[in-house]
Amino acid sequence: MDFKKDIIKLLKSDLKEIEIDESMLQVPPHPDMGDYSLPCFNFSKQLNKGPSEIAQDLVRKINLKQPIARVQVKGPYLNFFINKAVMAQAVTSEIAKQKAKYGRIEKKKENIMVEYPSPNTNKPLHLGHVRNMLIGDSVSDIFSFLGDKVVRANMNNDRGVHICKSMLAYKKFGKGKKPGKGEKTDHFVGDFYVKFNQEAEKNPELEKEAQEMLQRWEKGDKETVKLWKLMNTWAYEGFEETYEKLGVSFDKYYYESDYYKKGKEIVSKGLKKGIFKKDGNGAIMVELEKYGLPNKILLRADGTSVYMTSDIYLAQLKFKDYKLDKSIYVVGSEQNMHFRQLFRILEILGNKWAGRCYHLSYGMVYLPEGRMKSREGTVVDADDLIDEMVNVAEKEILKRDPKIDKKELKKRAEVIGLGALKFFMLKIDPARDMIYNPEESISFEGETGPYVQYTYARICSIMAKHGKKPNAKADFKLLTEKCEEELVRKLGDFPPAVRQAAEHYRPSVIAVYLIKLCQAFNTFYHEVPVLQAEKEVKEARLALIDAVKQVIANGLDLMGIEYVERM
Ligand code: ARG
Repeated sequence: MDFKKDIIKLLKSDLKEIEIDESMLQVPPHPDMGDYSLPCFNFSKQLNKGPSEIAQDLVRKINLKQPIARVQVKGPYLNFFINKAVMAQAVTSEIAKQKAKYGRIEKKKENIMVEYPSPNTNKPLHLGHVRNMLIGDSVSDIFSFLGDKVVRANMNNDRGVHICKSMLAYKKFGKGKKPGKGEKTDHFVGDFYVKFNQEAEKNPELEKEAQEMLQRWEKGDKETVKLWKLMNTWAYEGFEETYEKLGVSFDKYYYESDYYKKGKEIVSKGLKKGIFKKDGNGAIMVELEKYGLPNKILLRADGTSVYMTSDIYLAQLKFKDYKLDKSIYVVGSEQNMHFRQLFRILEILGNKWAGRCYHLSYGMVYLPEGRMKSREGTVVDADDLIDEMVNVAEKEILKRDPKIDKKELKKRAEVIGLGALKFFMLKIDPARDMIYNPEESISFEGETGPYVQYTYARICSIMAKHGKKPNAKADFKLLTEKCEEELVRKLGDFPPAVRQAAEHYRPSVIAVYLIKLCQAFNTFYHEVPVLQAEKEVKEARLALIDAVKQVIANGLDLMGIEYVERM
């Protein structure tokens, strides 16, 4: 809720000697210092006085008017306090009116592409991809919520020697086998990639054979292409299942095989124009040292392209396909250098939009010592993790509600299990490495998804007991307790939290906000009665918690987390 306008109006009418506008008002770090404050340094020059003195002078001239309840001088600051009843009334009625739209802020609408998770098609998605998808999906949700046109794009790295490795292993050891019933098809593919690596340790010749296979593929050899298609189809089929389980979906798929040759053309042109150079061995490279980055080879001496080559083309393709204002890449921090180089190369090539590319980098995800080794021995499958979370949730639910109906159990376990996973991963700032702790994430206490979901369900059950819609005309003057003021304030903090999350590409801001909101609610609920309160007070409190319920829902929506009325 924004009361800046009211304050400016008041000041403009009472204080003729100063020029003042909304941007000068600040939100103080602590509620004891008021809801807004005006630093008086701004006027020192104009009035030729010290800021504290100015504050003293000004406060005497102000005639208080609603909704401003009080003005206080604190050193060089004028602190304004908004009438709490007006604030509560304004916030709750705004939420009741806006409902699922509450939290939208005024902002220029943009065309934004968010690329995630962009897997390689030789193995299934793993733990890191889960974090990737959750961040990509949540950031997309946040921008769409704010009215941007978001394209969720997924690029498949579907070619290259790593793909040929699983193909070669299949050819040698697969004996025409098909994925079994119930076997996930991307896991089937991934197992051959593991097999390749095991065999290649004993027989290094295989590496060479994979390279030869890649050359055959590049030449369009029929049999090789056929096998490639077959195995990629299996990979995609499996990926789609995982996407669906996690609740992510895409508007656009890119396939590296469609355009990797185009990257080579750009590089050759760049060489002719003198933007790129040939090194001593005949490879084409770009000099980046003057930008404080390592030089980069763009085409090997044998004419084959590297990862960077196709990324240069893809970046341009994206801007050509959609008139983008922003192009976001959700990719792990191990590729920070790659993207710094890529964006610099795009700029050197003269693309004006190069500065509108953004690498949304995220850190590594580890599991606590000794947990869940995957078949590959090093990484954890996304599917195994998701399934495990749903199972753990099921056990938790059964502990609380042993007689629960089977269908209801399944639904609730999915909501809680995935909610736990998503919230835990999203609440950590993306830039940081993290340890995903399944047990901790599913706890109903602490800073977890289930805690937030439980708070939501708790409000639902209070509302259900009440049995009526809250009264929009409740008397908010009755909400005078500190815990009530605090809850109102937290509700008003939601729109700025959404803005901050969008500006910094940080779903974690929403997660941290939700925890604070739920804590404020639970303190409130612990300290004052709701249904047992005297009629008028009860109505005001019900209207207040109904608003809390709505804001929790809005926040969880932005994180791709579902919620249920009973837990
Ligand atoms: N497939 C790559 C990997 O698994 C990530 C691709 C990211 N996107 C991009 N345009 N480079 O590491």
